[in-house]
Amino acid sequence: MENLGYEKIDPKIIDGNLIKLISDDWMLVTAGNEEKFNTMTANWGGVGYLWNRPVAFVFIRPERYTFEFVEKYENFTLTFFDEKYRKALNICGTKSGRDCNKVAEASLTPCFTDSGNPAFTEAGLVIECKKLYAGMLSEEFFLDRDIFDTVYGKKGNVHKLYIAEMTGVWKKTNL
Ligand SMILES: Cc1cc2nc3c(=O)[nH]c(=O)nc-3n(C[C@H](O)[C@H](O)[C@H](O)COP(=O)(O)O)c2cc1C
Repeated sequence: MENLGYEKIDPKIIDGNLIKLISDDWMLVTAGNEEKFNTMTANWGGVGYLWNRPVAFVFIRPERYTFEFVEKYENFTLTFFDEKYRKALNICGTKSGRDCNKVAEASLTPCFTDSGNPAFTEAGLVIECKKLYAGMLSEEFFLDRDIFDTVYGKKGNVHKLYIAEMTGVWKKTNL
């Protein structure tokens, strides 16, 4: 990543408000390897500290093509972009990698971490994650029934939660 203009940083010094970054600016969740990977836009998730390590957590519906990759591979990445890539994130959040080459349609350039995990050179921030815990959300554990009814009631599958250790964080140095 260093040869692509990134510097490795401590997760504790990530710039900006992560709630805003995730909810408003959105992120890409990407998993796979150099031969085959898939990416999708997400804006539900978070970061924190759990089991004595920095973690990120994401929620992915099983019908997403990206789900297959996140399930199969031990790692995934979260990538964050400047506003000028909003159109690219819209494409990755509305089209499926099952039907098209959305990375090409979004004009994103794949790159790979030293461990071989896919990211994009346009990202200002890359967070590499190693899965620690995965589990489907379950209707019976919702304490606020309205949330379940509104988000999942008639709309099909619940999300699967992934909690993952941040194993590497890189920031673009020329921003
Ligand atoms: C702003 C935005 C946020 C999204 N957040 C999530 C999310 O957190 N979890 C999820 O499963 N899908 C989310 N999606 C939907 C997926 O990005 C979308 O279904 C995508 O086309 C899946 O692509 P894939 O089939 O190639 O994986 C979001 C879409 C948008 C536009």
